[in-house]
Amino acid sequence: MNPAAASPLHMIDIIRKKRDGGALSVREIGFVAAGAASGAIPSDQLAAWLMTAWLNGLNLEETRALTLAMRDSGEKFSPARLGKSAVDKHSSGGVGDKTSFLVAPLAAACGVVVPMISGRALGHTGGTLDKLESIPGYRTALSLSEFETVLMKCGCSIVSQTPALVPADRVLYALRDHTGTVENPGLICASILSKKLAAGLDALVLDVKTGSGAFLRNYEECEFLAALMVATAEAAATRTVALLTDMDQPLGQAAGNWIELVEAVNLLRGNRPRAIEDLRELSLILAGWMIHLGGKSATPQTGYQLAEAALADGSALAIFFKMIDAQGGDVAVFDDPAAFHKPGATRVVEAWESGIITSMDTTALGWAVQRTGAGREKAGDPVDPHAGIIFYKRRCAHVEAGEPIATIYATSEAMLDEPEAILRQSIHFSKESNRGAAVALVSRVVTPEVAAEILAGCDSGQ
Ligand code: URA
Repeated sequence: MNPAAASPLHMIDIIRKKRDGGALSVREIGFVAAGAASGAIPSDQLAAWLMTAWLNGLNLEETRALTLAMRDSGEKFSPARLGKSAVDKHSSGGVGDKTSFLVAPLAAACGVVVPMISGRALGHTGGTLDKLESIPGYRTALSLSEFETVLMKCGCSIVSQTPALVPADRVLYALRDHTGTVENPGLICASILSKKLAAGLDALVLDVKTGSGAFLRNYEECEFLAALMVATAEAAATRTVALLTDMDQPLGQAAGNWIELVEAVNLLRGNRPRAIEDLRELSLILAGWMIHLGGKSATPQTGYQLAEAALADGSALAIFFKMIDAQGGDVAVFDDPAAFHKPGATRVVEAWESGIITSMDTTALGWAVQRTGAGREKAGDPVDPHAGIIFYKRRCAHVEAGEPIATIYATSEAMLDEPEAILRQSIHFSKESNRGAAVALVSRVVTPEVAAEILAGCDSGQ
């Protein structure tokens, strides 16, 4: 027996090693993940370790080890008894990104099963679970057997990490949110994939955001994150593809909690407002890939067509409502969504000048949304289901001074000023007639082959 391998590990030594630029072993990484999950490592030491990892980066081996150790930190779900291909989608985080509410029922309507373990608001981005919990009664913390029952009945289920399911991510995710340690490729990869791999997926579609609202600001870093996640998931036997998508402005119009669900349900009801065409299009593209990787269409394009048909015939809407009901949610609130919406305070923001919107600092806009009360200052804080912002104008739009550009819904009157001030600093106008170049909704598809090329061109330190 190698005495070094058996020597006891101490968190303080692991923090100091990472702080000083060392690479951690699989055993050391496993110690951190297990200690986070069990509560054996106190949160001050976990926070310090996260900051060392954020500052010094995790190399490819450390990232893989962390992903697998977090996956294995609790129970795992096996979709085998469901008798269908299990496929999911996960986003790297955005503003107004509500595609999960569309793609889960769309893909389920087309014959795959979608066991989706999601997250809460993180940094400037919104959280699928916080949005769903704005539906009275909706339960996100299901046991594995409840998860399976909902999946059998509905074909999709959206749940949270729990003390039993990916507990290491539950703890580290919440800590990262309020210690400034979100924006790191290795930590993002391990967080996302630990949840996805614990769900026993056959295939996975990743939506990696790029642009001013993405966690990683430059395009090359986003490509690297996409490649890292594709290679890590593939190595764990999950067929994976990543799409690099635009987050240079909020997706759709609504960013918040209840208001995002309303926007998604509007599309599921077969409506097609021009102002949220980007949300419809991206959801269909992502669902098309899920359907394709799940073996239900020969190409992602034919998957798109199947998803579009499920949108048009109402089958995806029926599945979404069935899932909400099965998880204890009161579907009746969607009968009159405006009547259910009771924000503490409302303010319409008018354009402060005329011109063309040339750019939006979407990260700042995401913080504006969180400051309405839609997000939390620290782990465990409640979020306001009714808070958020509706953005009426998009990049390249011509706006006249005095036209409404956004409506802010906040918890209280006192919470309206800060989001408005952020909006005023983050939306930029130009008097020039040049509207600037249009940005593609999907700029690149990273398959395993493309991922290998991208990683070959990078050094392994992050
Ligand atoms: N989504 C996650 O689940 N984790 C991250 O770190 C970022 C987005």
